[in-house]
Amino acid sequence: MAVEAVPENGSNGVAAPKDDRIVVARKLTKIYDSGEIEVRALRGVNLDVRKGEMVAVMGPSGCGKTTLLNCLSGIDEFNGGEVWIAGHRLSKMNDNEKTDFRALKMGFIFQNYNLLPVLKSVENVELPLLVRGDDPKESRRRAIAALEAVGLHEEANKKPAELSGGQQQRVSIARAS
Ligand SMILES: Nc1ncnc2c1ncn2[C@@H]1O[C@H](COP(=O)(O)OP(=O)(O)O)[C@@H](O)[C@H]1O
Ligand SMILES: [Mg+2]
Repeated sequence: MAVEAVPENGSNGVAAPKDDRIVVARKLTKIYDSGEIEVRALRGVNLDVRKGEMVAVMGPSGCGKTTLLNCLSGIDEFNGGEVWIAGHRLSKMNDNEKTDFRALKMGFIFQNYNLLPVLKSVENVELPLLVRGDDPKESRRRAIAALEAVGLHEEANKKPAELSGGQQQRVSIARAS
């Protein structure tokens, strides 16, 4: 997977010598077309996020925040423009490459936490590690450490339904870490 230099906006296509941009979007466009109505959810979004930066995407319900995050993370396809994550151009990756990239490089905390109801907290946290082929014992050790870090050591054997909303959210944070 090639890493390419991303042209800086308005600088004659010359990338900055020390490029610490982790997320770059240019003219990102997303149109939902469900037959009768066409929703232009993203209309040419430009975005630069540098390493270590904390960014909040704010706006009223329905303005396109989830769409933007889904397109930036390669969960959803976009119709126009381009996204680079750590120098990797999303439109050049196939579905499998995007899935691997997400599993190895990205952390997600979903709005509804996306915890699997039949799994205990510790199993929910270790699942992505097992899926990517990590050693089961090491995965369990790391899952418990991640739950400890969010103050949920005692809840490791509880299933999502036995946890409060905030605790479920913290399991989700532990899984993303
Ligand atoms: N799968 C979809 N099909 C059609 N329209 C959608 C779909 N998902 C979102 N939209 C529309 O796109 C717009 C942006 O939605 P969304 O990104 O979920 O907003 P936000 O996260 O800011 O609340 C809304 O008008 C929404 O109705
Ligand atoms: Mg949303």
